[in-house]
Amino acid sequence: MTDFEGLKALVTGGASGIGRATAELLAARGAQVAVLDLDPSPVEKPLLGFRADVTDDTSVREAVAAAVAELGGLDVVVNNAGIGAQGTVEDNDDAEWHRVLDVNVVGMVRVARAALPHLRASRHAAIVNTCSIAATAGLPQRALYSATKGAVYSLTLAMAADHVREGIRVNCVNPGTADTPWIGRLLDKAPDPAAERAALEARQPTGRLVSAAEVAGAIAYLAGPLSGATTGTSLAVDGGMQGLRLRPVGQ
Ligand SMILES: NC(=O)c1ccc[n+]([C@@H]2O[C@H](COP(=O)([O-])OP(=O)(O)OC[C@H]3O[C@@H](n4cnc5c(N)ncnc54)[C@H](O)[C@@H]3O)[C@@H](O)[C@H]2O)c1
Repeated sequence: MTDFEGLKALVTGGASGIGRATAELLAARGAQVAVLDLDPSPVEKPLLGFRADVTDDTSVREAVAAAVAELGGLDVVVNNAGIGAQGTVEDNDDAEWHRVLDVNVVGMVRVARAALPHLRASRHAAIVNTCSIAATAGLPQRALYSATKGAVYSLTLAMAADHVREGIRVNCVNPGTADTPWIGRLLDKAPDPAAERAALEARQPTGRLVSAAEVAGAIAYLAGPLSGATTGTSLAVDGGMQGLRLRPVGQ
């Protein structure tokens, strides 16, 4: 499939997990791809790596400008960089709330702000934000993280409205628990990692975690030129976790 031939894409958080799988898939389908990441060292050719911290506006502006200069334009932005947070509203102090909101929400705003002037010049402009099932389902011990992803969901709708008449589509993907280095780190911290993994798998109707490649496939679908009529939507990639209500096995 070469539906991204001639298109230029930028993926934040593209050195690991979902972002990495997305950058590789877009490149395999013909796009020229720049990755922006805190640590771009794992990024290999043909992907272009740029160091950027999405919490730093100057760093974002410089990296986006450098990426666009090297790519020769910009058509697709995948706003994917994000971090986790655990606990109820009692468990994180104000500084932690501001830190996680800064990365997960304002980070996407900074990247979009720097990219929009370039996207306006594209004939196939699309932004895809990595949201989460945490935006649409109440998950225990995820108050802060869920608040950031709820904001990403609303931001996606608002941006889609603001930019539809400029020919820029904005959508998001809502992954369930995806098997990435992030979840690996989470499991390593659990008292019983195998039991924690089994609990996360059991929570999804498919009985397994989502793969990074499956989320990348959904992002590519939303970003691709064949989805020209799709904007202001969220696409669940969660093994049925949001939409299905199964009976317990055997009943
Ligand atoms: N893994 C899951 O279960 C899951 C589920 C739903 C949504 N998500 C979302 O998917 C996205 C990617 O998650 P992942 O599981 O691939 O994580 P990951 O930790 O494997 O990758 C995240 C990448 O983002 C980069 N990053 C972090 N902070 C940054 C910053 N300030 N500036 C620039 N880059 C930064 C990291 O260096 C890393 O390369 C996140 O937005 C996350 O919220 C993940």
